[in-house]
Amino acid sequence: MDHFEIRDGAMHAEQVPLAAIADTVGTPVYVYSAATIRRHVRVFRDALAGLEQDGLPPLVAFAVKANPNAAVLSVLAGLGCGADVVSGGELRRALAAGIPAERIVFSGVGKTADEMALALQHGIGQFNLESEEEAVTLSAVASRLALTARVAFRVNPDVDAGTHAKISTGRSENKFGIAYDLAPEAFARAAALPGLTIEGVAVHIGSQLTDLGPLETAFGRIGTLIAALRAAGHAIRTADLGGGLGIPYEPSKPIPPSPAAYGEMVRRATKGWAVRLIFEPGRLIVGNAGVLLASVIRVKPGSASPFVVVDAAMNDLMRPALYDAWHDIRATAPRGDRFVANVVGPVCETGDTFAMHREMDRVAAGDRVAFMTAGAYAATMASTYNSRALTPEVMVSGSKWSIVRARQPIEALIAGDSVPDWVHDLAEGE
Ligand code: LLP
Repeated sequence: MDHFEIRDGAMHAEQVPLAAIADTVGTPVYVYSAATIRRHVRVFRDALAGLEQDGLPPLVAFAVKANPNAAVLSVLAGLGCGADVVSGGELRRALAAGIPAERIVFSGVGKTADEMALALQHGIGQFNLESEEEAVTLSAVASRLALTARVAFRVNPDVDAGTHAKISTGRSENKFGIAYDLAPEAFARAAALPGLTIEGVAVHIGSQLTDLGPLETAFGRIGTLIAALRAAGHAIRTADLGGGLGIPYEPSKPIPPSPAAYGEMVRRATKGWAVRLIFEPGRLIVGNAGVLLASVIRVKPGSASPFVVVDAAMNDLMRPALYDAWHDIRATAPRGDRFVANVVGPVCETGDTFAMHREMDRVAAGDRVAFMTAGAYAATMASTYNSRALTPEVMVSGSKWSIVRARQPIEALIAGDSVPDWVHDLAEGE
């Protein structure tokens, strides 16, 4: 559920008409609903009821990559969420937003020694290691700093998550985690390294999962592994079950499993584990909490359907170009009639296409459209391709709204480059 609704003929974010934001800030602009973010955290936590360990509820560590905006992270910090980070940059953003270090887990296959040192100095909760080589580096960094790193190994359970290949992570051929069969040896070797304490096991098999079956299979394997590790003498205290639960994008598709159904499955799969559970949801928390608001520049004829050219493009919202992802596209002031159209941006490549032959609200030049479900993996994946400045972001709460990231001035883009003197000398020549 979200808080973007048509009221009195106009789409609102909570109590704020989107037109008011577009008139003031211009388009394209991302708009986030704080109430939706808060609601999703509540729903997810409710779904995890009964999974407390030693009186502590599971840790909900928001996957910062889904939306790293400081205002979004601050809303989550205020709710007591933790963070799953995958770079020194994300770590610093999470800390700056007030997320306590002990609620931060650090994932990713390519943590550098400098990033490890930063995380250790801040005292983060857990490193999710993805290789033995990484364990060796972390051990060296921790020993040098005379600190101890709490670690889990991310295990690759070799399960096909049934999602888009580019966001599937749990097959043996993927780059993520250590091989399931080799995990006992990896734990044994890591336990002997100085500066590390083994805390637990982590798993994440992919994103936008619409079937709980592969997750349950993966968790079953993790349960077996936990028992084997304990039998080998390791004290396993945490199990990080990752993120990945899908959300509805396309109205005509079946609705993905609810958080409640996910929670039910987790209760079943983790029975008797006796560990602190950690979850890393990203999309589920913020996906439906954002829209990308754009204006129609013009409508031009096409061979089968007209082209609606909008002022947002693939550089602002990359998911359709990258994964053929569907985002619902709605007029913010629908007139009631519909048509079939192609929705494209101004960037000079055919991949800059948001929808082909889409049945949608009829729109004309000057109208505004909202790309729905654009709170996750949207603004954060933007680029400045075609020298288009980064899109601003706005957050709404009730009838209040504020710019939470200003539109990047084109001057800033230009000023970012520098031209050495010798380049001018080159121009003198032939
Ligand atoms: N934990 C780990 C280790 C991850 O790699 C990810 C996402 C998550 C948690 C959060 O997954 P979520 O709950 O959001 O599904 N750019 C793609 C999605 C990439 C997901 C990367 N990892 C997209 O736009 O669909």
